[in-house]
Amino acid sequence: MPDAPKTIESLEVEERVFAPPPEFAARATADADLVRRAAEDPLGYWADEAERLDWMKPWQTLLDDSNPPFYKWFVGGELNVSVNCLDRHLDQRGERVALYWEGEPGDRQAITYRDLHERVCRLANGLRSLGVKRGDRVAIYLGMVPELPAAMLACARIGAAHTVIFGGFSPDSLSDRIQDCSCRAVITADEGWRNGKTIALKENVDKALTSCPSVEAVVCVRRTGGEVGWVDGRDHWYHELVAGQPPECEPEAMDAEDLLYVLYTSGTTGKPKGIVHTTGGYLTAVAATHRHVFDIRDDDIFWCAADCGWVTGHSYIVYGPLANGCTGVLYEGAPGFPGPDRWWEIVERYGVTILYTAPTAIRTFMKWGKEHPRLHDLSTLRLLGSVGEPINPEAWIWYQETIGGGRCPIVDTWWQTETGCIMISPLPGVTATKPGSATHALPGVGADIVDELGESVPFGSGGYLVLTEPWPGMLRTLYGDDERFVETYWSRFPGLYLAGDGARRDEDGYYWLMGRIDDVMNVSGHRLSTIEIESALVDHEAVVEAAVVGRSDPTTGQAIAAFVTLQASIEGDDALIAELRQHVATRIGGIARPASIVLTDDLPKTRSGKIMRRLLRDISDDRQMGDVTTLANAEVVSEIAQMAAAARAAGTGE
Ligand code: PRX
Repeated sequence: MPDAPKTIESLEVEERVFAPPPEFAARATADADLVRRAAEDPLGYWADEAERLDWMKPWQTLLDDSNPPFYKWFVGGELNVSVNCLDRHLDQRGERVALYWEGEPGDRQAITYRDLHERVCRLANGLRSLGVKRGDRVAIYLGMVPELPAAMLACARIGAAHTVIFGGFSPDSLSDRIQDCSCRAVITADEGWRNGKTIALKENVDKALTSCPSVEAVVCVRRTGGEVGWVDGRDHWYHELVAGQPPECEPEAMDAEDLLYVLYTSGTTGKPKGIVHTTGGYLTAVAATHRHVFDIRDDDIFWCAADCGWVTGHSYIVYGPLANGCTGVLYEGAPGFPGPDRWWEIVERYGVTILYTAPTAIRTFMKWGKEHPRLHDLSTLRLLGSVGEPINPEAWIWYQETIGGGRCPIVDTWWQTETGCIMISPLPGVTATKPGSATHALPGVGADIVDELGESVPFGSGGYLVLTEPWPGMLRTLYGDDERFVETYWSRFPGLYLAGDGARRDEDGYYWLMGRIDDVMNVSGHRLSTIEIESALVDHEAVVEAAVVGRSDPTTGQAIAAFVTLQASIEGDDALIAELRQHVATRIGGIARPASIVLTDDLPKTRSGKIMRRLLRDISDDRQMGDVTTLANAEVVSEIAQMAAAARAAGTGE
């Protein structure tokens, strides 16, 4: 943690400023008046936003802050999320497309609100017929197929909470999560498509379930038609399950504070955190931020190109856009399949007006070259968004010029799995943007930057990013672990939510996010814990000790650099390094595979035996090394530095 301020001070401030285009500002849903009213009365702002939803029973208390940090929103209110996302649109816009879906092999569906409603109801009835009921948890482990949002909404309809597990996670990661929240059912597919290859989803589920006694039923979507194992009595084909079900399904009236979902994310220890989001506040927050940040209008085609396995997909593919009755795009596959212009073909085909993606994707497209987007008509685009990590000004400008044709504002949105919704972002019709800055806190959101003592720092300085007021989309706790919830987010600065990011505010009060201040890495916009990967390495029989750090990478933001000490009797070679990298991928998932592994007889340690990860970060980034005088074994440092430089140059990453 003490690293943060040093990094923050080294920032070079970007000078370019882009005012909102006047014709955009003239029509924007969020204007200066909204910002002013929210600043005067933040709770009134959230109450107004909640009024846009359909409540089965009105709330009595907007915010119960009597037991911080266990805040409650819209106390006494009842609603159903799937009704808000589907049923209430049927009269006015039942025939409107809710989702344009495109499979990687090229198959397509245009799913109207009426279609989606029917699919959700049939599945909800099917789940009920399998014994899934209000208060249960259901794991969803699928690729980006239409059944994924349908499954989320079907759970919401019957009051079962879902936990979506990204399709790239391994059987071990899957079973950890299923066990942690004792899921009663799992919804998966035979296989998924990615880069023209298949991913063995059902096989992974079968492996995971050998250690998940709570699971009574598995529902399997037939996607590729590939062979799967089958457990009679437990396993059910999705298409058979829904075929006999009625197309209507009575929704549960849920309390505003009932659990909507648990989503796991990496923290500073090896055990992932189950982030808990509830019903009324979350839906209010994602619907409001989706409307205002993306300036949603009736004719928009909104493409959030994330995966539903991450929070971005939950909030801005499924819940926010559908609550707003918007038309979205869902794409199953890899951005470069079959060619590097696949995304731009999709933008052109559906006339996408708003595109929301991550800096790592933008940098990949930069690498592939301008000629690919130029093959397509991107003139329908009017707004671009970025999320997941700081966007470097070079990528920002490329995005704005090459994809946005110089006419589209960019919203760089800072938020987290924990926050549920966007917290710091420009409002495209109001805020003048600076490339690389997420600009200001949104209406209804209180943010600040504080020093070690929790004191607000003046403009022009850096420190710890905190949120100063409760907000409706906030996590309520960590699943089954109130203590860790309080300890992680609320204990360092009493009364303030600690985001875990370093940030700086410039002289104009613009926020510049500077990355994590803890042992969490951000690889391609995905959060990974160094300790989780270290545990996976040490789990290999050849390894005695491991240290993992994030090193800067021009495409993925950070890349995983591992330093490993082997058993004395074992001679390390390239084959063993490859085996160790694969071992991590098998234990956690392909996204956690280290880009480089350096084998060393010793790791740099303090005299008390603590591994100096900060030094390994300096070495990995080829920076001037910090103070080494406190090391017990200073002599190992230069040796490791040489090997790390060689590993970097060899570019073992994929
Ligand atoms: O470090 C910040 C970074 O991503 C972290 C949250 O990761 P996760 O919960 O996986 O959610 C990602 C999608 C919301 C943050 O703590 N981060 C996210 N957005 C930005 C960002 N860093 C800088 N700028 C952003 N726009």
